[in-house]
Amino acid sequence: MKTIAVMTSGGDAPGMNAAIRAVVRTAVDKDLKVYGIRRGYTGLLAGDFESLTNREVSGILQRGGTILQTARNQEFRTQDGQKRGLRRLNKYDVQGLIVIGGDGSLAGAQALHNLKFPVIGIPASIDNDIWGTNMSIGVDTALNTILDAIDKLRDTASSHERAFLIEAMGRNCGYLALMSGILGGAEIIVTPEHSVSLEQIAQALDDAYTRGKSHAIAVISEGTSYKLHQVAEYLEQHPCGFEVRMTILGHVQRGGSPSAFDRLLATRMGVNAVEQLLEGESGKMVGLNGRQISLVELSEVVNNKRSIGDGYFEMAEVLSR
Ligand code: F6P
Repeated sequence: MKTIAVMTSGGDAPGMNAAIRAVVRTAVDKDLKVYGIRRGYTGLLAGDFESLTNREVSGILQRGGTILQTARNQEFRTQDGQKRGLRRLNKYDVQGLIVIGGDGSLAGAQALHNLKFPVIGIPASIDNDIWGTNMSIGVDTALNTILDAIDKLRDTASSHERAFLIEAMGRNCGYLALMSGILGGAEIIVTPEHSVSLEQIAQALDDAYTRGKSHAIAVISEGTSYKLHQVAEYLEQHPCGFEVRMTILGHVQRGGSPSAFDRLLATRMGVNAVEQLLEGESGKMVGLNGRQISLVELSEVVNNKRSIGDGYFEMAEVLSR
């Protein structure tokens, strides 16, 4: 193997740059030529390749986002798109690819592997919804961003005796809402995995008021079946004692400098991914298993759904009192 390529794909996640840097510098150390593919599979199909050396990845370790940019691409989901992508890789004489991204991006990597192209995946998504790894790149930073927001909102909530409804990201997975709710001291947490009725939300806030709390926090995951304004409307009709305000945290959760944890995770995964390609591995993802980085089959990753883990919802309920 003489030439490899690296891309970031799907939603950006803090730590992607640290992973790119680790891939490039490890590959250069092993005398490989490296291409960065811009804008994920969109750039692959368009032939948007740029040569990366150690200098191009200088000063990016601490930066959020991704210097290679990223995209969500529908065309690469088709067999025709995948074959065209393969032609592009062959045109640049690339013999191995590292895909840094979420479940959709890893499904694309799996498709290339099925076409006999050597590929290794690196899990990166703030949602922490990727099977086969305890943590994905970006989760820890996003969680800290959310906690910072909750702490600040609690200051103003208790000054005014208000209840805050806070929406955390997570398209299909409530990990961020659940963890930030537990660690931010929420009175009630709502996620797609743990459905809670509007009546139950109102009751939890009402209970907090009755117990004499000066504020109440509800963390609601983006992926739940109702929107934040519906909860607020319900609470207007069924007052809970507190005045109610709502905050949708939105994409602020995806930006910012990666935490120490994310930099370390991304760096270890980037180094490992290059080593795996050189050892002839393909169709695998590097995952965090306990404290170790280990390989998982991409076919398993894309066909399984990661569960949040038992016990956390019960824990949240006990601790909210
Ligand atoms: O997958 C990461 C994520 O931030 C989800 O939490 C969110 O639902 C989605 O991406 C938003 O996607 P976009 O930035 O394309 O609107």
